[in-house]
Parts: sequence; C-alpha cells; structure tokens
Amino acid sequence: MPEKKPAIKAPEFRIIRGSDCNDAMMQSAYKHFSKNRTVPWSYTSFKGSLSNTTSALMVGANHDYHTVLGMIIINPIILSSSECFDAEADAKADSNLDSLLIDSAELEDIWVVSSYRRQGLAKTLLEWGIHELCALQCPVLHLEVNADNHAAIKLYERFGFVNVGRRKNYYDDGKGNKSDAFLYSLNL
Ligand SMILES: CC(C)(COP(=O)(O)OP(=O)(O)OC[C@H]1O[C@@H](n2cnc3c(N)ncnc32)[C@H](O)[C@@H]1OP(=O)(O)O)[C@@H](O)C(=O)NCCC(=O)NCCS
Repeated sequence: MPEKKPAIKAPEFRIIRGSDCNDAMMQSAYKHFSKNRTVPWSYTSFKGSLSNTTSALMVGANHDYHTVLGMIIINPIILSSSECFDAEADAKADSNLDSLLIDSAELEDIWVVSSYRRQGLAKTLLEWGIHELCALQCPVLHLEVNADNHAAIKLYERFGFVNVGRRKNYYDDGKGNKSDAFLYSLNL
C-alpha cells in the first residue's frame, strides 16, 4: 500500500476584530504594516482604519498578540445622512455600524507574514471580511492592486473579483519605477 503523506499542519491562529484590538496590538501591527508600504501612513490613520469592525488582525492562537500573522483592513463607505433621505436612518446614523447604510466597501490592505504564506491565512481573512460585509448588507467590495502583484491577483480572482479597470503608472516605488493599478470589484 502506498505510504500516506502526512497532512500539513495548519497554523493555529485567531482573528481579532479591529474594534477589539488594544493599543499594543495596534502598535505591533503598525510596525509590520509600515515595513511593506511605499506610501507611508501615519499611525493615527492606520489605527482609524484598523479600528473598523470590518478590519481584523490574525494572531497566534497562544494569545501572544504581539505575534501578528496577518491583517485585513476594510473601509466601509457609509452613505451620508443627507443621502439617506430617511429621518429614521438619520437618527441612527451616529449610533453604530450595524444600523448604518453601507454604500460599498474598499479592501485597503490584506497582508500575511512571509513565513506563513500559502497556508490559507489570506483566504481565511478575506472570507471573514466578506462575511462581515454581507452581515452589514454591503452590496459591493472594491480594491486596487499593483498589476505586478501576481499572488494577490490570484487570490482575488479565486474569490470571484472582476477586473473593472486599470490606472496607468499609478504606483511609484520611490526609485523611479512605476507600475499600473488594476481595479477589481466583487458583488456581495
Ligand atoms: C497576497 C497575500 C496576502 C496572500 O496571502 P497567503 O496567506 O499566502 O494566501 P493564501 O495561502 O490564503 O492563498 C489563497 C489563494 O491565493 C492564491 N495565491 C496566494 N499566493 C499565491 C502565490 N504566491 N502565487 C500564486 N497564487 C497565490 C492561490 O490561489 C491560493 O490558493 P492555493 O494555495 O489553494 O493555490 C500574501 O502573499 C501577502 O501578504 N503579500 C504581501 C502583501 C500584499 O501584496 N497584499 C495585497 C495588497 S493589494
């Protein structure tokens, strides 16, 4: 009988919703986040986006919150109260996200620490984000991605995101190299 291959052990992790992250977790995530960006974000902007209920960190299951394995940052675009034309919706507009009308959402970033890649972590994070957006009745998720980022493009296309446009020379790596951005959308 052929010898059975041992299954690859899935990494143990937990997803912590952005709104439940404390400052130490935010700081740790910000360190990772800043390393990978050509256009820097201030800590305040990062914290604002990660604090969304639709953003999350993936950490080791051993509760070591400093071991950030990945993150997903989704910014919901909320209809302004003047666009709602609904007094009841207006009244609810400053309560919590659950009661707001979400027009669309933008996947700002998804990232997995390099030594944990190709083990399904980004897939798990994106499934989580999509589930949260569906619960908020968000109709569509948009994103932009560097046209050279084949790993990310594969991931998005696997989820059914559709390429809806291209921005020429959108990214600049700071060393004079420019690359295009692809725009993708997923109807939820
Ligand atoms: C893109 C990224 C988030 C993927 O994370 P990951 O945890 O390795 O992805 P997963 O293991 O969940 O992969 C899910 C699917 O995506 C696709 N995929 C992911 N990485 C891939 C790669 N290097 N090459 C080809 N396909 C890839 C595959 O279809 C994969 O499914 P499979 O493993 O069953 O073939 C990760 O490479 C990363 O952090 N890159 C740097 C940050 C970044 O570019 N973020 C995107 C910003 S727009």
